[in-house]
Amino acid sequence: MTAQLIDGIALSKSIRAEVGARAAALAAAGHRPGLAVILVGDDPASAVYVRNKVKACAECGIHSVLEQYDAALGQAELLARIEALNADASIHGILVQMPLPRHIDPHKVIEAIATAKDVDGFSVHSAGTLMTGLPGLRPATPYGCMKLIESTGVDLRGKHAVVVGRSNTVGKPMALLLLQANATVTVCHSATPDLAHHTRQADVVVAAVGRRNTLTASMVKPGAIVVDVGMNRNDEGKLCGDVDFAGVREVAGWITPVPGGVGPMTITMLLVNTIEAASATAA
Ligand code: GUN
Repeated sequence: MTAQLIDGIALSKSIRAEVGARAAALAAAGHRPGLAVILVGDDPASAVYVRNKVKACAECGIHSVLEQYDAALGQAELLARIEALNADASIHGILVQMPLPRHIDPHKVIEAIATAKDVDGFSVHSAGTLMTGLPGLRPATPYGCMKLIESTGVDLRGKHAVVVGRSNTVGKPMALLLLQANATVTVCHSATPDLAHHTRQADVVVAAVGRRNTLTASMVKPGAIVVDVGMNRNDEGKLCGDVDFAGVREVAGWITPVPGGVGPMTITMLLVNTIEAASATAA
């Protein structure tokens, strides 16, 4: 069996078209959606991510402001900027790009963002709404993974989903989103003995550990949905995920490629969250 590709670029395109229409409607009603993106320091990968976020906003008619600061920016100064953006009615979402320089406490920064503007969904409040099933802003990457899984048309009720990775930004919220969709969920991580024992039983596997070849063909149940969150480089310097794509695609039923799977969806769901935040203010 050769797996069907889950095309994150095509799905992104259709969701971004909806985002554009919603942004235009909000703007026409006098509520142009706005996103503030803050970058501290000169990490080249972060600079690329931030540029792509700002570009995606422009393409969808979302107003964005990019604030770039030297790595020496003090924590108090950053918190003061967040306070000002919290009070700025033209801004509906605030994103502080991670990682931050070591002298800045990321938890303090995340918690300083107004709950209604937490478009990353990283705050304790947002995590709490996800945990309890209340409405709220969901972290973009796992939210995007859910959309990719939904696009297969497979109903998750009664299915066994295995999440590999337990980060606050992907693994843990992913497990909660799958649970909310009525899957039976197992979370595996670096201290899990015999990872393959778990993944072989999974109807859905989400790999989010940041190490290539974590999931190989012999670890996958035939027909399973495989979602690859990894962004790694192989020996030739080519982008690759956590999944051995060539091997696993011969066993799985559906698989997301890297690049072109989860990556584009992360930015797309940030745009969706910005629209949701703006709509909540406009209501
Ligand atoms: N750094 C890498 N991914 C992300 C993300 O989704 N949000 C923020 N704020 N920083 C990141």
